[in-house]
Amino acid sequence: MSGCKGIIVAKTIDEVRTKVAKWQAEGISVGLVPTMGFLHEGHGSLIRKAVEQNDEVIVSDFVNPTQFGPNEDLESYPRDFEADKNFCEKLGASLIFNPGPDEMYDRPRAYVNIEELSDGLCGARRPVHFRGVCTVVSKLFNITKANRAYFGEKDAQQLAIIRKMVKDLNFDIEIVGCPIVREEDGLAMSSRNTYLSAEERKAALCLSRAIKSGKENIKEGMSTKQLTSLMAEVIEAEPLAKIDYIEAVDGEMLQPIEKVQGRVLVAMAVYIGKTRLIDNFSWEGK
Ligand code: PAJ
Repeated sequence: MSGCKGIIVAKTIDEVRTKVAKWQAEGISVGLVPTMGFLHEGHGSLIRKAVEQNDEVIVSDFVNPTQFGPNEDLESYPRDFEADKNFCEKLGASLIFNPGPDEMYDRPRAYVNIEELSDGLCGARRPVHFRGVCTVVSKLFNITKANRAYFGEKDAQQLAIIRKMVKDLNFDIEIVGCPIVREEDGLAMSSRNTYLSAEERKAALCLSRAIKSGKENIKEGMSTKQLTSLMAEVIEAEPLAKIDYIEAVDGEMLQPIEKVQGRVLVAMAVYIGKTRLIDNFSWEGK
């Protein structure tokens, strides 16, 4: 473990456990921000909120292999640990946990799977994804024993699944959801935006334009098909974009709905060239 001054860098589970045991003995509250690194202001908003609400903050920085499918971007996923470390330190986090894959997984045979909520949206296109997310997040909860954990609404399905997992498995942790942080021109911040060429970066604005149009047009009782068709038109006007899905589901169990009512999540995934980007908004009736 290093970091007598500034942020502590922990590479092993034992190092984290030792530090947390000391904090707990002092009655100190711990916030956890799980990330896959290549940090940007979206992650920054979670870290800032965690620093505000807890005595000590742990940021985990781990590109989790179990949530990537065989043809996905595990190898090419962007990494810059030094920049991440400086970013976390500047924002006032206490510890950055950066294990290697062997530290986290030794021929694992236990997985956490949240049924139904993982079936649709991104789960339908990425079959092992949410099982991998829930497994690593459970491990991080057990390793850090954090009082609160912070997740972005950018990954709305992930956030809903984690909330359900915590409820169903009685994890003793508070889940704090944080709003989507966007670039000035509207594009939701994402580590994967770095894959975009200059031309694709411009084309990617069709996602936030479609979200804006969805927000402007959504009305109690309207057909969800009508709403998602309006949004699809915005994406289809962009030649470099290809829709993976645009769907409206109920905000809790994430099941498809025909009419806009109650709490609704409107989510989409769109390919810009080879890069798959996601965006969403939530709506709640009176
Ligand atoms: P990652 O994509 O690095 O995101 C880490 C957290 O930052 C997630 O909770 C995500 O929703 C949030 N986040 C990312 N971009 C955001 C934005 N523009 N605005 C607000 N929040 C944003 O999500 C993961 O990693 C992994 O699946 C993980 C939970 C760490 C498990 O491996």
